[in-house]
Amino acid sequence: MDQSAELLALAVSVARAAGDLATRMRADGVAAVATKSTATDVVTAADRAVEQLVRDRLREARPGDVVFGEEYGGGQERAAVRWILDPIDGTVNYLYDIPVYAVSLAAEVDGVVVAGVVINAATGREWTATLGGGAYCGDRRLRVSGETDLGQALVGTGFGYAAGRRLHQARVLTGLIGHIRDIRRIGAASIDLCLVAEGALDAYYEKGLNPWDHSAGGLVAAEAGALVTGLDGNPPGVDMVIAAPPALHAQLHDLLSKLDASGGP
Ligand code: IPD
Repeated sequence: MDQSAELLALAVSVARAAGDLATRMRADGVAAVATKSTATDVVTAADRAVEQLVRDRLREARPGDVVFGEEYGGGQERAAVRWILDPIDGTVNYLYDIPVYAVSLAAEVDGVVVAGVVINAATGREWTATLGGGAYCGDRRLRVSGETDLGQALVGTGFGYAAGRRLHQARVLTGLIGHIRDIRRIGAASIDLCLVAEGALDAYYEKGLNPWDHSAGGLVAAEAGALVTGLDGNPPGVDMVIAAPPALHAQLHDLLSKLDASGGP
């Protein structure tokens, strides 16, 4: 087995255990235990417990690796492999018991994401990819949508938690909505990216994402044929993530650029 396949196998087994813990804790009832960047950016006991479980399992299996996670940070030391983890992507869905929340886990070697898994813990649906090895949902090989006209495209997006950023994102949406088929706000960026990979969304964009939101799903989308970038030749990052088949990507990129989508707070 090559290294990325090995890392993926470990990621899948750890993410499954993590997803099981999330759903068990959900069944026992969930409450926000704290807020983070703003009063609407919640964290639950499950976000923390799931991150701890993943950290413990990875340390046991590969003690030399480091983990960069949404809840406990870390991962800045040099190591052969850096894991990038969102223990529960879609925390607000989780809080409200909307069955769309994921464990998102990626493995990075020398700064390049080589393996990623996203598991919708509520449904058990699993998306995986290795660099150069394709993207899968279970055993099914994934391919992005064949749509080439932005005017016919179903586009996913999301919003940050700070009021100023949301206002800017709403203005961008006002400029975009007349030029696309419709918009979807799924509530978990990693799942949005996997939906692009399987063609259930034609495209996706969002400003303000962190690596734990987009690393695993970004690889899944890219391996299914999407271009996954920022604006103006930049890599995907906090200023912008756009994921779409190449023909749609060019149109969406130009419109988002015109609308100054990466500007604002
Ligand atoms: C959030 C979700 C949401 C996106 C936000 C993210 P979290 O992650 O992915 O869809 O719009 O930007 O912060 O807080 O649920 O892990």
